[in-house]
Amino acid sequence: MAITGIKGFNDILPGEVEKWQHIEATARRVFELYGFSEIRIPILEKTELFARSIGDTTDIVEKEMYSFVDKGEKAVTMRPEGTASVMRAFIEHKLYAQDPVAKLYYMGPMFRYERPQKGRYRQFHQIGAEVTGVTDPKVDAQVLTMLCHFFADLGLTEPTLQINSLGCPECRPVYRQALKDFLRGKLDQLCDDCKRRVDTNPLRALDCKSAHCKEATEGAPSVLDHLCAGCNDHFAATRRYLELVGTKYDINPRMVRGLDYYTRTTFELVTGLLGAQSAVAAGGRYDGLIADLGGPKLPGIGFAMGVERVALLLAAEEFRKRPDLFIAALGEEAQQQAFSLMTGLQRLGVSVEIDYEGKSLKSQMRRSDKFNSRFTLIIGEDEIARKTAGLKDMDAGVQGDVALDVEAIAAKIGK
Ligand code: HAM
Repeated sequence: MAITGIKGFNDILPGEVEKWQHIEATARRVFELYGFSEIRIPILEKTELFARSIGDTTDIVEKEMYSFVDKGEKAVTMRPEGTASVMRAFIEHKLYAQDPVAKLYYMGPMFRYERPQKGRYRQFHQIGAEVTGVTDPKVDAQVLTMLCHFFADLGLTEPTLQINSLGCPECRPVYRQALKDFLRGKLDQLCDDCKRRVDTNPLRALDCKSAHCKEATEGAPSVLDHLCAGCNDHFAATRRYLELVGTKYDINPRMVRGLDYYTRTTFELVTGLLGAQSAVAAGGRYDGLIADLGGPKLPGIGFAMGVERVALLLAAEEFRKRPDLFIAALGEEAQQQAFSLMTGLQRLGVSVEIDYEGKSLKSQMRRSDKFNSRFTLIIGEDEIARKTAGLKDMDAGVQGDVALDVEAIAAKIGK
């Protein structure tokens, strides 16, 4: 029996992969406009990195990590997200000594042991960006604007931006306590998970999917009513800067995030098109994380998008690549000439296909149709004798003669 892949771990096949390349290229282009540089981080990290940053009582750390003890008896984990690793690298390589303001982006696979379904996988891919060293809300507005710029350049209007503020170590405990008190009064209506969370992670009860919990928490106190003056001003200024540059948003005071490192601004880009998996991208500020990981006292903010979810929002057809030229050849000599022209043209930057084993003209033309090339060239004995052949522009449906010479053909194709 043939061996199959592992559940939740997907192949990305030709046809689909062109869409991914387009998403990645758009991210690189847009992020670099805003001064971001790429960083590549490893897939495996010490388990304690994620326990300390994401938080011991989060679903990710409690239930979803691919952790194992390696042959050297070290506890290691396949990264469930990128922020912790990027900050670990930022601290380890003392990037802050050159400039405390680092703007970094990354892309690659992440691993979480979740229940696979549409838009949710065990190996999934993120494209993320992080900025360190700036407390000023201009950077919050810029990061969000860059993310919206990226989606606009992909031609997507669907994911809409929701923002919230989760406060800071000064005001969050006060809110946590108010929420705990509220939830204790509703204990009998909460699901088992949320009953347990009341003491460990009460904020998570606000985004529990259970209908009972949703109803029970309808009148829950809002984090926005508990912000200290500093956090309140920061959130107001973030909103003003977003408005100044025309970045549209909605405020969602019930948005809590599944990772513990967040402070102040948090956000999600949400869509109604992907069923239960509504967040296409998400992130926020993490002003305490760098110090918690043993680095200097510097703030940070960033986001990550799920590439599978972005890809699901894009139609497939537009991204199929078409070759510039298909050469059909009849007879041994013509096939040699076609092979030689193909190689010469590829060296000049023209993409060319032939039918390697094609016998009849009919079967070669069938293959040509499959490739949907922009031009077609047909070579037989006559064309070799005349040293010219008909080059057909498949979109315009017009044909003209061209000398059987790589430079001449490349020029006609516009390369
Ligand atoms: P996150 O909300 O855990 O945040 O993940 C960000 C995005 O990754 C989600 O909005 C979703 O699109 C995608 N995603 C997460 N889990 C899966 C999955 N199992 N299958 C498919 N897609 C998934 C973070 O990871 C933070 N590190 C974001 C961040 C960066 N915050 C600050 N900087």
